[in-house]
Amino acid sequence: MQIRLPDFALAYDDVPAQKPDRREVILLIHGYPLSRAIWKPQLEGLSEAGRVIAPDLRGFGGSQATPGPYGMDLLADDCAALLDGLGIRQPVIVGGLSMGGYVALAFYRKYPGRVGGLILAATRAVADSPEARDGRDKAAALAQKEGSTAIARAMLPKMLSPKTFQTRPELVAQVKSIMESASVTGIVGALQGMRARPDSSALLAKITQPALLLFGEDDQFVPRPEIDAMHAAIRGSQLHILLDAGHLLTLEQPERFNQAVKAFLKTVF
Ligand code: MLT
Repeated sequence: MQIRLPDFALAYDDVPAQKPDRREVILLIHGYPLSRAIWKPQLEGLSEAGRVIAPDLRGFGGSQATPGPYGMDLLADDCAALLDGLGIRQPVIVGGLSMGGYVALAFYRKYPGRVGGLILAATRAVADSPEARDGRDKAAALAQKEGSTAIARAMLPKMLSPKTFQTRPELVAQVKSIMESASVTGIVGALQGMRARPDSSALLAKITQPALLLFGEDDQFVPRPEIDAMHAAIRGSQLHILLDAGHLLTLEQPERFNQAVKAFLKTVF
């Protein structure tokens, strides 16, 4: 599906709740340089619990690209505009994976009253270090020179667990193809936005809504002490570490991911 927002057309999935009496809404925000395709197993799996909506952020998947930077607040505003366009005014469960988690935290910062609960997967609260910012600049230059294929080639080894690489060649190929389909404008816009994102560590202590943290045991992006610090900082949060999953745990361990989310949602609704 597509919706026309003020400066671009946004593509999204919108799966109704399997039971018509479930009025809860779950918004799922993908990471970089990915698309809503990373939520495919969740669209059906979580519709048992409510209506599931997954946008392609601007510049990714089927959404149009606009010139960057894509600040996390801008991407959060796009999500809010999607909910507005769909007439959803009630608080929703906001889930984000990696960059999607940065956007979820920005959404929380800007629209706390619209958040009924948070699902933070494979993400971080801290800002980029100077080295990480340098890495963003190099990645943007690489994307501009050699396109999304070079970005996919550089990122693929870090995205999945060793077990996934050994046993699921079709999933490895799918993830590569999702990354290759990202637009260069989208890649550069997101890199500029992530580079400039603020530190959200202090925000974590202010979260009063239920929160679920989900990570893959083999995630190469988020060090374990940082995960434990997030868990400690968000009062009452639940933490699950999924075995045999890397950064893309939604695709690598979809059943265990969905089980954890459904159990969490039962405590929220
Ligand atoms: C993501 O998966 O969204 C990115 O790896 C996040 C990042 O580069 O900080």
